[in-house]
Amino acid sequence: MGVTLYYVIQLFLTSFQHQSINCIYKDPHRNLCLFLKNTESVIIMKFEELSFPEAPKLGTIPGTKSLRLLNRQREIEGSAVSYPRSIPIVMDEARGATVKDVDGNVFIDFFAGAGVLALGHCNPIILEAVKRQQNKITHTLDFPTEIRLELIENIRNIMPGRLKNNVKIQFGGPTGSDAVESAIKLAKYYTNRHSLIAFEGGYHGMTATACSLTSGKFWKEKYLPMIPEVHFLPYAYCYRCSLNRTRNNCNLECASFYEHILEDPHSGVVKPAASIIEPIQGEGGSIVPPDDYIKKIEEISRSYDVPIIFDEIQAGFCRTGEFFSFQHSEAFPDILTMSKALGGGFPLSAIAYREDLDIWEKGSHIGTFRGNVTAMSAGVASIQFLKENNVNKHVNEIGTFMLNEFKTLEANSEIVGDVRGKGLMLGVEFVKDKETKKPSPDFAAKAREESFLGGLLIEIGGHYNNVARFLPPLILTKELANIGVEIFKKAINKIERNFN
Ligand SMILES: Cc1ncc(COP(=O)(O)O)c(C=O)c1O
Repeated sequence: MGVTLYYVIQLFLTSFQHQSINCIYKDPHRNLCLFLKNTESVIIMKFEELSFPEAPKLGTIPGTKSLRLLNRQREIEGSAVSYPRSIPIVMDEARGATVKDVDGNVFIDFFAGAGVLALGHCNPIILEAVKRQQNKITHTLDFPTEIRLELIENIRNIMPGRLKNNVKIQFGGPTGSDAVESAIKLAKYYTNRHSLIAFEGGYHGMTATACSLTSGKFWKEKYLPMIPEVHFLPYAYCYRCSLNRTRNNCNLECASFYEHILEDPHSGVVKPAASIIEPIQGEGGSIVPPDDYIKKIEEISRSYDVPIIFDEIQAGFCRTGEFFSFQHSEAFPDILTMSKALGGGFPLSAIAYREDLDIWEKGSHIGTFRGNVTAMSAGVASIQFLKENNVNKHVNEIGTFMLNEFKTLEANSEIVGDVRGKGLMLGVEFVKDKETKKPSPDFAAKAREESFLGGLLIEIGGHYNNVARFLPPLILTKELANIGVEIFKKAINKIERNFN
């Protein structure tokens, strides 16, 4: 009976794909209503129906089946595997902001595949778009397809201000790192220069150029040589100002230092091909600089004729309550990198750039998987979903709620030094001592572990690996947000009790 119903629904779905009629599809399993019109989904969706209702639900963690598979992975997969070393979970099924492991434990997911799953796990809108595309064609190199052009039009259209419908798009390989490679390559082509400027705390990926632009020393020390002539400047990490200023008396001297480097003939830095910056830093510890900092960086770049690249791979696509995080300032990039949420949860990356930069020749940046049409279809559905469900407003509401809850921790806890973030890109920084701000990677790791045991998935990052990072799916409901925050608070209380 269940199987028959499934096929009736599939038939029903395929039958309207090419028709210009209004149809209503009711998903019997998830109780969702999708209203589809002219193959465009006009979606009225209850976010609470996207996740497993029973979350969190916990037995033994990790259970016996999980342990067996984790051990087997250790035996047969390379030792650079990282996440399961700190979060011992074997995922089996996932919905919305929840994940079920192979032993039936159900977790709340505040990590969402490192920010990839903006619409949550297995969002039916995405699954429908993927199926629709996969029944047509799945690999097209960079030949045009309707869905490719639709995605390009959509990306051009969501650009704010003077960039709207005024950028060129280039798809690269499927990861964010490749978008960074192509952004740098384009800037080098355009300027005929080679040196580069990046910022402390920045993370841009693991390929050679992207890793060279990433500030973490851990990745570089054994991976030498990096590409030459990359210079790191202070970022506005006001909790730990590199210049020892406080926000009230600093006059953004960190940004002024950038100007000094470009201006002084003896700064040692030749005129760069580009500067690359995250308008809100992700892996560096969810660091939100003052809005006028990014504007100042942009203005300095312009006045010295240095193309500025905004890396929106993590913060883009409504993560911070705006389509792109640079929209919190009045700054605009020359080149913008995108990935993670761009493909609706499927691998895809791209750059958008000022049309006059488009001087590179045919084949300058190529790759077999440049523009995966399945991900493009998911990407179109995702952008439509983000717009039609007013996801920015939702992100701001839930993000503010969570931030305020974490602020109470900052006020009351001896080990929480700073709480920050925008939208649903939040961070809680752990210290051994609030006066000295001595970083505590141990408390952060313990917070991750205790959260996991309480049924909540989070990750850690930051300069000293001492920041609990929160990147939940953007469809997170207030109810799940609240349960997750309570689990996290309990974890902190437990750490404090053991600490004292
Ligand atoms: C800001 C930023 N840039 C680039 C990357 C690299 O993307 P990928 O891991 O897909 O190569 C990341 C990944 O976390 C990122 O956060």
